[in-house]
Amino acid sequence: MNNKKGILIVVEGIDGAGKSTLAKGLANKLTTLGKDVILTFEPTAGQYGRRLRESFTSEKRLTLDEELELFMLDRKEHVESLLIPALSKGKVIICDRYYFSTMAYQGARGADPQDIQARNEAFYPVPDLLLIPVLPAREAVNRIRIIRKDRPNNFEQLAYLEKVSMIFDNITGDYVERLDARLGIEELLGEAVKVYEKRFCDCLKDTSNQ
Ligand code: TYD
Repeated sequence: MNNKKGILIVVEGIDGAGKSTLAKGLANKLTTLGKDVILTFEPTAGQYGRRLRESFTSEKRLTLDEELELFMLDRKEHVESLLIPALSKGKVIICDRYYFSTMAYQGARGADPQDIQARNEAFYPVPDLLLIPVLPAREAVNRIRIIRKDRPNNFEQLAYLEKVSMIFDNITGDYVERLDARLGIEELLGEAVKVYEKRFCDCLKDTSNQ
């Protein structure tokens, strides 16, 4: 996994924080700057991801073990069929949710976040950059209700999202960059681009001079 040439950028955060809009916006921006970008997401549109999505709105939520198993199977397929091949071709991947969501969402149901992190990092690539737009859980739930004119689903109830949020807040690592999700989307995107430039462009210039 150390011989990868591409860049893996993961975008994480609680529902309602603007994570998917940010991931799409950053992918568009980098594409227009001439980068070879792939935008992807978890849960995927594959067989396991579809089963998970069906469960989100169902009356009866899957058990923690069933959820953990399906997210891990979905990720295995995603990493093997898309992430590793794309990284080895030098692409910039923007991944909307990854194993940090398993740490946070299944952790909030009682699983051990550190154990989930260790199990994932034993097999799957660690991101080069993890962007987390941060928003208090209460505001996120209001956004879901008001802006999306939607009722929060099984994963979006306030008490649950508060626990999820605490786990995201405790994630550390030199790849982590937190952004203020209260910024408008244009400003938020501007901040993400600055982070990208700081982390990768200078770095690329430096190595090309060696
Ligand atoms: P998401 O794709 O962000 O939702 P949307 O359809 O609104 O764009 O993710 C769907 C849900 O999946 C989200 O509430 C968090 C949950 N999830 C987990 O619980 N564990 C995981 O490992 C992942 C990847 C997602």
